[in-house]
Amino acid sequence: MATIALDPRLDKKTSDFIAQKHRMYIDGKFVNAASGKTLSVYNPATGEVMAQVPEAEAVDVDQAVRAARRAFDEGPWTKMSPSQRGRLILKLADLMEQHLEELAEIESMDNGKPVSVARVADVPLAVDLFRYMAGWATKIMGHTFPISFPGEYLSYTLREPIGVVGQIIPWNFPLLMAAWKLGPALAAGCTVVLKLAEQTPLSGLRLAELIHEAGFPEGVVNVLTGFGEGAGAPLAAHDLVDKIAFTGSTEVGRLIVHAAAGNLKKVSLELGGKSPAIIFPDADLERAIPGTASAIFFNHGQCCCAGSRLFAHESIFDRVVEGVSDIASKIRVGNGLDPHTEMGPLVSEEQFEKVTGYINSGLSEGAKATAGGKKAADRGYFVQPTVLTRTTPEMKVVKEEIFGPVVCAVPFTDTDLDRIAREANDTPYGLAASVWTRDISIANKMAKRIRSGTVWINCHNVFDAALPFGGYKQSGWGREMGSEVLNNYTEVKAVTTAL
Ligand code: NAI
Ligand code: MG
Repeated sequence: MATIALDPRLDKKTSDFIAQKHRMYIDGKFVNAASGKTLSVYNPATGEVMAQVPEAEAVDVDQAVRAARRAFDEGPWTKMSPSQRGRLILKLADLMEQHLEELAEIESMDNGKPVSVARVADVPLAVDLFRYMAGWATKIMGHTFPISFPGEYLSYTLREPIGVVGQIIPWNFPLLMAAWKLGPALAAGCTVVLKLAEQTPLSGLRLAELIHEAGFPEGVVNVLTGFGEGAGAPLAAHDLVDKIAFTGSTEVGRLIVHAAAGNLKKVSLELGGKSPAIIFPDADLERAIPGTASAIFFNHGQCCCAGSRLFAHESIFDRVVEGVSDIASKIRVGNGLDPHTEMGPLVSEEQFEKVTGYINSGLSEGAKATAGGKKAADRGYFVQPTVLTRTTPEMKVVKEEIFGPVVCAVPFTDTDLDRIAREANDTPYGLAASVWTRDISIANKMAKRIRSGTVWINCHNVFDAALPFGGYKQSGWGREMGSEVLNNYTEVKAVTTAL
């Protein structure tokens, strides 16, 4: 492999890591794919290859699953006390914090996002998630039950780890998605095979090194790099896997459900969205305009909960569109390592083609771009933050998830909350929504009427390890984070003793 010139702005530790020969993590060892094959990792700011990582296939998946099976069935992991498990997770969080800057730089190089954002959002949120989940390790419990069966009994439930868990994650928040998945599974006492996204495997591989350094027993966490069909599909189908947790497209979510049918493994899914942000005429526009702009443009719109449908009452519609368009046109788009950059490139050529394709389809069907509408550089995968108006409900840009910095702004005239909610709910998705108003009664009535897993009032994209997150309808099955996620990784056993 030719040596790749890495960006001189990177810390030497980061450059050294990216340039090193990458291996996957199976059964406590760093290994190549059995076939010796690798896949290329691209720098989205330049389109150049910056690393090679192993390309796992079914045989590697099988090895990793068997290692996780042994670690679960034979211990020592499952024989450790909850407090020992919690301490290991805390140690991992400490190590991540010690390497915060390096992890943020890796994330920026791999995903394209500004290092300034990864430093204050992705990495600290991942650290917080692990710490929060470490606390749960000692607090996963059952209940006792007064039963009415004739006789005298003691009945209680045990909440036990579900077993070997397969986890498949996407590229939009590579490290954070790894944390959302690993944290609760480890707190619950499961063992894991985690498959990273092929576009962004580097922070997960660095995390594997930190997991090793923290001292988790071998086989407890296995980290694979590879493609969806080659590595993800055999993991989802594997008979020795008890549960599969997936985040990504709704299309692949359906494939996961089919693949899981063989041994009826449990499934949780966190899928797409087309989230509405609804601004009422009485809203504080000083907050609602920047708030709804950030709802769509944060992480370049590559968020499953991005506020991609902006509804504003007709009396304020023009001001809102003007304000959001003004913000969009001033966003500094550039290389994520530049400290002034506010928006980096999209993650891959595929996403670049997809997002610009959506913009062109909207424009050709008669939508108007009041900001953006084009690619933003001749090299790399940069797209201008884009605001579309004059859309119609039938347009693809309105109906489908774009997963890029593109918002469709639509006026509403109604005062009837049921009808406004019906329009907001007119999507197969149900992940999130935001409502902007000074009227607490309207805000909370709307929160009840919207069919989605999250409703934000006068804010958007507020995340916390304590809050459950997930989707109604085709946005998914189950919830991540909070105490709710522990249900994904535990089985309940009812124990009854005749006294
Ligand atoms: P994807 O759903 O294909 O990929 C996500 C993960 O699933 C990756 O790790 C991939 O390797 C794996 N995967 C792909 N095919 C698989 C299969 N047959 N079996 C098992 N695993 C498989 O998403 P992709 O192609 O990267 O992006 C396409 C669209 O998906 C985006 O434009 C966006 O609309 C949506 N998406 C949603 C995300 C979310 O957070 N809900 C995250 C990423 C993408
Ligand atoms: Mg795909």
